[in-house]
Parts: sequence; structure tokens; C-alpha cells
Amino acid sequence: MHTFKGRDLLTLAELTPEEITHVLDVAEQPASAWPRFDNTAAGLIFMKPSLRTRVSFEVGCVQLGVHPVVMGPYDAFSRDETVHDTIKVLERYVDIIVLRTFAQSHVEEVAQHASVPVVNALTDDYHPCQGLADLLTIRQHKGALAGLRLAYVGDGNNMAHTYLLAGAIAGLDVSIATPAGYEAHGAVVEQARELAARFGTGVTISVGSDPRAAVAGADVVITDTWASMGQEEEHERRVRDFAGYTVDDDLMSLADGEAIFMHCLPAHRGEEVAPSVIDSARSVVFDEAENRLHAQRAWMSLVL
Ligand code: CP
Ligand code: NVA
Repeated sequence: MHTFKGRDLLTLAELTPEEITHVLDVAEQPASAWPRFDNTAAGLIFMKPSLRTRVSFEVGCVQLGVHPVVMGPYDAFSRDETVHDTIKVLERYVDIIVLRTFAQSHVEEVAQHASVPVVNALTDDYHPCQGLADLLTIRQHKGALAGLRLAYVGDGNNMAHTYLLAGAIAGLDVSIATPAGYEAHGAVVEQARELAARFGTGVTISVGSDPRAAVAGADVVITDTWASMGQEEEHERRVRDFAGYTVDDDLMSLADGEAIFMHCLPAHRGEEVAPSVIDSARSVVFDEAENRLHAQRAWMSLVL
């Protein structure tokens, strides 16, 4: 039996391969199987903008009978209130805390103080909710996860880190190509290799700078924005530094003939992805966005 009640979701590394499979299975259950939680509330805190995460968490809560309370920087962690005091107050009102913020250490500190489960709804370093939704999307389109080859081209950011961990645990080879100076953190690459070894998934984790080498033969090709939230002022420099890293038809032609294209969104056509790729039949980006709802509803139902 899997034990999820009360657990935090901070990076994906907390999950075993079997647990990931279980979460995805629960995510696919029909509405008739969803539990109802009476007198239950969720505190959803967004210190950064959000469309998908905010709406999918809010709707997911409603589908479970959980009352969502959405807060922004004006409400939570404002007026110099400490993380400790903020969380000690919130946990008297809500049964789960979902936080989108900047530093991973912020969500970790919240989890340390909270007596209720905490979900990382994106930090500068990880986006585990997107990771679960993406694994669900890949499984739906490819029929399975283990043995597939996932290529990520672009910034070595929170999404790159999430795919490194997701692939290592769920059994997908991960090949990452980033420009020099924008590599994924070495510690996360190392952690992914350790997880692959621990779970015996036998996957290959490769990091380099050549998008063509990364994409060659891939079953799943993924990219993400070149300038993440908080890096807006670096946009111009990044567009220059990422020249040659656009996922276009030429790059996609090197992938497996049945390869799908994924992007967590929001996308920037003509920068990280060509319109002809994201708007093609190979693109599953809106299934991916929909699966945020199903994966997060599943996670909330398991931990509550
Ligand atoms: N993909 C994603 O997390 O989207 P939002 O930033 O709009 O929530
Ligand atoms: N890397 C992006 C993901 C957005 C969902 C960011 O952090 O802004």
C-alpha cells in the first residue's frame, strides 16, 4: 500500500517509481471515483504570476469539495511577517498549502514549519506539479514511460531539473542541451544519476550543448522559455545567447518519426519554439496543460 497522507511534494525526488505510477493512475480515475473532502480548505500562495497552476489548482480543489483560498504577495509573507509566523497562522485555517515562489529554500522552510502538506507550485529550481502532468501526458501518448528517450533543449532551469528527476525515477533516458553558461545544476544531474541507480531504472542521463545530439532519436522533445519569471531583464541577452537552440522543424526531423513535442507554457513562438512545431499535430502542449488539473487533483486527494 502506498502512504501519501500528509506528505509534501517539493521536488519529485521524494517519489518512488511505483508512487509515480500510482499518482498517474489516480489522475486518470473518472469523476465518480474522486473523493469529497468536507470542511477542508487549501491555501494557494502565488509570489509569481500564474495562469495554468492557479486555475488548475483552484478547479481541482472545487472538484474535490475543497475550498481554495488564493493569496498573492500582498497577502502572504507581507509586512515583514516571518515564514514561521505566516505558516503557523495559515495551518490553523487550511489543510494543505500550495506555494509558488522564488527560492527553493522558501518552500522548504514552509514545509519545515507546516503541520499540513505542502506542495511546490514552482520555484526557481523545480516544478514537480508540471513534472507529474508531463509524465501523465507522455504515458497517455506513448502508452508507457520506461524505455523512452526524452530530449530537453534550452535553459538549464526549473523544468530541466524536473525532467532530470522525472526521467531518472520513471525510467526515461534524459538528454539535455543548453548553451554554455546556462547548464542545469551539476548537483541535480548528480542526483538524477543517483536516483536512477537507486531505483535500477538503468536510464542514461546526458548533458551537453548540442541540440542535434540531444534530440537524435528522441521520443519526446521538450523546451521552455529562455527567460523564466524573475529573469525578465535578461531577456534580450538570453535571446542572443540561445541562438541556435530554437526547436524548429529541422531539429524535430532528427527525433523519432513518432516523437511528440511538449512545452509547459507560456510559450514564445519564434524564440524557444517555431510556430510550425508548437502548432503542429506532434505538439501535445494543451493535453499537457489539461493534465495539470488531473495530476494535481490526484496529488491533493492522496495527501489530504
Ligand atoms: N506551466 C505553468 O506552470 O504555467 P503557469 O506559470 O501559467 O502556472
Ligand atoms: N521556467 C519557467 C516555467 C514557467 C511555468 C519559469 O520559471 O518562468
